[in-house]
Amino acid sequence: MSEKNSAPKTYLNHPNQWKLKALLEDLFTDPDPDHITEELKRFLQKYPIPIDDFPLTEGTYSRTILFRSNNGYEAMAARWSPGAISSIHGHPHFALIIVTKGGLGIDYFKKHDGRVEMTRSGFLSESQFFSDIGQAKTFDNHIHRVQAYEETLSIHISSDDAAKGETFG
Ligand SMILES: [Fe+2]
Repeated sequence: MSEKNSAPKTYLNHPNQWKLKALLEDLFTDPDPDHITEELKRFLQKYPIPIDDFPLTEGTYSRTILFRSNNGYEAMAARWSPGAISSIHGHPHFALIIVTKGGLGIDYFKKHDGRVEMTRSGFLSESQFFSDIGQAKTFDNHIHRVQAYEETLSIHISSDDAAKGETFG
């Protein structure tokens, strides 16, 4: 509950952080998207990541990098406050989102002549994931917009710094 005003301890000091880091280091060495998805789901079932370990920022979401590999792959935890909405944005080649608590509405877009057009909407509830491999090593793959309707924690994996993703307003 958000009545807790004390600073989160952050997962960076959590004992399972080191287990997760070791797993990600291994998975990112020779990245295989399906394998990453399966192993991460298995890990999260065995070692749940507490939402309260991450900063809550009213009206938006906080990002905490969990691990970054030398080849660019990174894992990030996003804690969403209710009503938070992202920009319409693209991603590097590979992107994976797993919801570990709460739920996220996702609108998917396609790019035509530099403009984006919404193609469909979906919803990821607890333990559900979205994973996709893009057509090219650019930053306009898997264009989407994410919205949280309740307090949510999601884990995001990208084949490069996710902040480099192209945005579309
Ligand atoms: Fe995204």
